[in-house]
Amino acid sequence: MNEQFGSCRIELAQGDITAQQVDAIVNAANSRLAGGGGVDGAIHRAAGPKLMEETFTKFPDGCQTGSAVATSAGRLSVKFIFHAVGPIWRGGVAGEADLLASAYRRCLELAVDHSCRSIAFPALSTGAYGYPMDLAAERSLSTVREFLLEQKQPELVRFVLFDGGSFGAFARALEAMSE
Ligand code: APR
Repeated sequence: MNEQFGSCRIELAQGDITAQQVDAIVNAANSRLAGGGGVDGAIHRAAGPKLMEETFTKFPDGCQTGSAVATSAGRLSVKFIFHAVGPIWRGGVAGEADLLASAYRRCLELAVDHSCRSIAFPALSTGAYGYPMDLAAERSLSTVREFLLEQKQPELVRFVLFDGGSFGAFARALEAMSE
């Protein structure tokens, strides 16, 4: 599913973030950048041990929630990995929506700074961090749309959804947004 916003496009795909042929992929990291399961585990496995070495050397203090940092991509064919730290869901009363938006925005800024024309995101915070999928879909897509309409780059933002449920939630939110 695709939706055009000015000269830019948001694309939804079902699949694995590590299999994407884009300039940058986004990792769903934690604030210590210590690795984990889910997206984080898949990316580190695919990229190889050099990625963790680089991450620890460059960012010994980790990364704040709502922000992101850039590394190279080890064995993966993309140019960069942006390690984003989404919020842990605490019922919606702890600023989660703003922190989620901020994590997406920071990745898009990194994409522009690194001259990336295409970037692929997983559904940040919707796994181990427990953010409800429908709410995450709405906030993630509206944040990206706003950025694209203002900045007119990157050309392609792809959301890579792991299963039918998350794909459906993002598809409904994207459809509602473009009505
Ligand atoms: N490709 C795309 N999406 C994936 C993949 C994959 N290979 N693996 C899991 N997902 C989906 C999950 O189904 C979920 O919808 O990505 C979404 C995000 O899930 P998590 O990876 O658990 O990320 P998050 O909720 O942000 O939690 C981050 O988990 O692995 C740890 O170190 C990480 O502590 C951090 C926390």
